[in-house]
Amino acid sequence: MFEQLDVLPADPILGLMALHQQDPNPNKVDLGVGVYRDEQGRTPILASVKAAQQRHHEAEATKAYIGPAGTEGFVSATQTLLFGSEHAAVRDGRVVTVQTPGGCGALRVAAELIGRCNDAATIWVSDPTWANHVPLLGDAGITIREYPYYDRNTNSIRFDEMMATLERAEAGDLVLLHGCCHNPCGADLTPEQWQAVATLAVKRGLTPFIDIAYQGFARGLDEDADGIRVCADTVPELFVASSCSKNFGLYRERVGSVTLVASDTQQASAARSQLISVIRGIYSMPPSHGGAIVDIILNDVELRRQWTDELGAMRDRINELRRQLVESFNRKGAEGRFDFIARQQGMFSFLGIAPEQVQKIREASSIYMLSSSRINIAGLSRHNLDRVTGAVMSVL
Ligand code: LMR
Repeated sequence: MFEQLDVLPADPILGLMALHQQDPNPNKVDLGVGVYRDEQGRTPILASVKAAQQRHHEAEATKAYIGPAGTEGFVSATQTLLFGSEHAAVRDGRVVTVQTPGGCGALRVAAELIGRCNDAATIWVSDPTWANHVPLLGDAGITIREYPYYDRNTNSIRFDEMMATLERAEAGDLVLLHGCCHNPCGADLTPEQWQAVATLAVKRGLTPFIDIAYQGFARGLDEDADGIRVCADTVPELFVASSCSKNFGLYRERVGSVTLVASDTQQASAARSQLISVIRGIYSMPPSHGGAIVDIILNDVELRRQWTDELGAMRDRINELRRQLVESFNRKGAEGRFDFIARQQGMFSFLGIAPEQVQKIREASSIYMLSSSRINIAGLSRHNLDRVTGAVMSVL
């Protein structure tokens, strides 16, 4: 049976992570995989997570199944995080959320449900988008098409072209949008642009599908959910895939959620039953641990405050690194070429250099970034920043 299989190339992000791990150079720099790092290059467990784990460890009385939808406390706290405490759609019972194994699980479960609604469904994704969007959605049988998003010459959003393309989408198509901290380019829609996209979705009969994997990393928890809330105020139906990997630092625990907004409560409960059936048919139910930690943190005033502060510190560090990176480039004679990086948000930006230059930097200096020149800003520190900018300037 297996003789028919070809060996596939490594995943571009995970393959780079493995290359970095194998590199014996003590001064190697990992700007590849999207994982938060502190000044020492570590990805520490948040103190709020440690405290919640301790509490959970003492209180957990069983390892019995938690059910396909996850835990109630996690689900309701997630809805509040996404929509705020008083959103009409939540109050009216039009919002359904289920816990999933990470944001990837959320994207795949949503894609399977979309396929059940329409076996000829098309999802429009931004050009560029996170590489794993394509297999996660496409392997569920969904047609993927691209809308223009990032202009590598001007380092800004091609908003007019994006809107012109979406004007031509068919009624019933979905539009995948990055809630904040666009991966890979770091350029986010403004609130006015979100409103324009939501209005267009109503006019053309499109459904927004928002992937929010970095809530809290751009401007703040509520501010980063602006796009979701604008869409929920405007469109009748909506999907949201969210992740707790980055903002709770729970990467390996695999915790996230898929949320949908339906037109009425009857459709919401039909959609919920279908979601449960999709989940039962793939992995039956999500792992419990990560969701339990998030549930404890979000439902405890003190732990929530501690977590919000820790998240704010991660955000501030990334924003400060963006500023320092630009300064360092300009000190080395870049003459403003990289100034756009300070205006972008979240973990990622493109440096805008060619794959051959990226490779040269990796071979000469053990600095690892994706061949698209996407860098993880959080991988920078005062120890490596000047070395990174020096290596980049040397290949320009
Ligand atoms: C990334 O884009 O680097 C992260 O989302 C990690 C991943 O799984 O690709």
